[in-house]
Amino acid sequence: MLKDRDFIRLSLELNLFFGRIMKEHLIFMAISMPIINSKYVLEADTLKESFEKLLEEVVSLSKGLISKEALESNEFVTKYTLDAEKQVEDLFGVCINKKLTEATLDLADKKSEPLYNLEGYVADLNERIKNLLMEAIKFKEEVHEEVLKCRLSTFIYPQMLEHLVEEAKFYLKLLLAIQERNINDKDILEKEVFWNHVMMDHALFTRGLLDPSEEDLIKRAQDFSKKFEELVEKTKDAKKGQACEISGKNLKATEEVKDFNSAATKGILACEIKGLINPLLADHLLRETNRYIRLLKDFLKTCK
Ligand SMILES: [Fe+2]
Ligand SMILES: [Fe+2]
Repeated sequence: MLKDRDFIRLSLELNLFFGRIMKEHLIFMAISMPIINSKYVLEADTLKESFEKLLEEVVSLSKGLISKEALESNEFVTKYTLDAEKQVEDLFGVCINKKLTEATLDLADKKSEPLYNLEGYVADLNERIKNLLMEAIKFKEEVHEEVLKCRLSTFIYPQMLEHLVEEAKFYLKLLLAIQERNINDKDILEKEVFWNHVMMDHALFTRGLLDPSEEDLIKRAQDFSKKFEELVEKTKDAKKGQACEISGKNLKATEEVKDFNSAATKGILACEIKGLINPLLADHLLRETNRYIRLLKDFLKTCK
């Protein structure tokens, strides 16, 4: 059973991370659909704005209540996020709430006074986020289904649409568990299987979206996809007693992919890497990697 302070902190950290991830999925969907699908583009944009509004509330409550580890993990924003948003706005004409990003960067300011007795408010906010999240899942599933039936065309791979649905469902599962105040580390290997799969998908998407002339990067992305494919299987097969050993291996591989993602984001922002990956997508993959690293490090602390 979660204590009130932990309930508030874990809720805010989960929503700070995944709220932003969700709104970016909707941005990627909106900028990838041709004009004939303006109905879907508009729907994606409306859902994105709703996430931004709720995220504003989350950020305004978070000062002083987020753990040092979460703030230092760069899973909410990185040093590239703001520039990436500006570039995507200029290139695609989409509106992105950059004040929200600035306010999230400001959370690192340690002088703030924490607010207490917020559990009722946070539980209500979680509930409103849950409702919006269920709407977003329905929307993503509908787009995915239409694409599979060849009734809709988008410049997002069908496997990536499926990936967006899976991440949203994973968020929903974690949010429901927090609402029931029922968090435990027993399912760590299950979470690691999920994240290894996410890392494998990212490498596959990166491989497919790089310009064919970027041979070295394509090869490195291919190697990462193979490595995580193996780690998915090894983690699935691992017994409870092997959790520490396998988590150590997962951490090593994820730290390597983090360096790759970080260099890719920097290179794409500086227009030094050719391909179809926009800088916000590159930064998005980097933040998901940072979140996984924090989960692994958190668990590995219990292994010593
Ligand atoms: Fe994502
Ligand atoms: Fe992802």
